[in-house]
Amino acid sequence: MIIAIDGTAASGKGTLGRTLAMRLGLDYLDTGQLYRAVGLAVKLAGVNLEDASDETLKTLIDQLDLCQKFGPELRSSEIGELASKVAAIAQVRTSLLERQRDFAHNPPHGKGAVLDGRDIGSVVLPDADAKFFIDAAADIRATRRHLELKARGEDIEFSEVLADIIKRDCRDKNRTIAPLIAASDAFFIDSSDKNADEVLAICLDYLDGGHEPQAATGL
Ligand code: DC
Repeated sequence: MIIAIDGTAASGKGTLGRTLAMRLGLDYLDTGQLYRAVGLAVKLAGVNLEDASDETLKTLIDQLDLCQKFGPELRSSEIGELASKVAAIAQVRTSLLERQRDFAHNPPHGKGAVLDGRDIGSVVLPDADAKFFIDAAADIRATRRHLELKARGEDIEFSEVLADIIKRDCRDKNRTIAPLIAASDAFFIDSSDKNADEVLAICLDYLDGGHEPQAATGL
């Protein structure tokens, strides 16, 4: 059983991925974390993305232990922004593609996997058994992300979080390689007026056959 979840920044895909995996006894991979880890590694190594060669990026990623325990910096707005920038580079996506597919096809507990990201249903796992695409109004997503960052001790204004989210979505949707897009067979959820439990219930219902696929709108 392989489930693909894609969506915009702070749309609730991570919470959905984790809870869905727990409910179904599947393994979970947050693929955004992989891109964040690369963004952090680029920062720590002082690599200039403007003129970094494919070889430099490949070596950096090959040497990166993606299973290590990362500190809270990984979830910061600075690393989110860097992750979105490295995610637009073809070499970075190529280097991470097989790792994601390998996790999906050989999940640690053998039963199946839930992966969330931006291109899971469209590029990484086009044959996934079920695909979800989740979105919400930008101001609602910014409110959620602002609360999350504040709880982590980051001193940041709401307006900055909103601007970051809009900029990041724009870059993720408009890059030439594997842009953020809803697969044509994805089930669309607008989480603007739904809490995490409601979103989970809708997805479980869909997996039980309670809904027809619903094409994504608004993207
Ligand atoms: O989901 P997140 O905010 O942790 O993701 C950080 C960035 O990583 C996001 O802005 C775009 C990139 N990303 C991607 O391009 N493809 C994925 N499958 C997951 C994340």
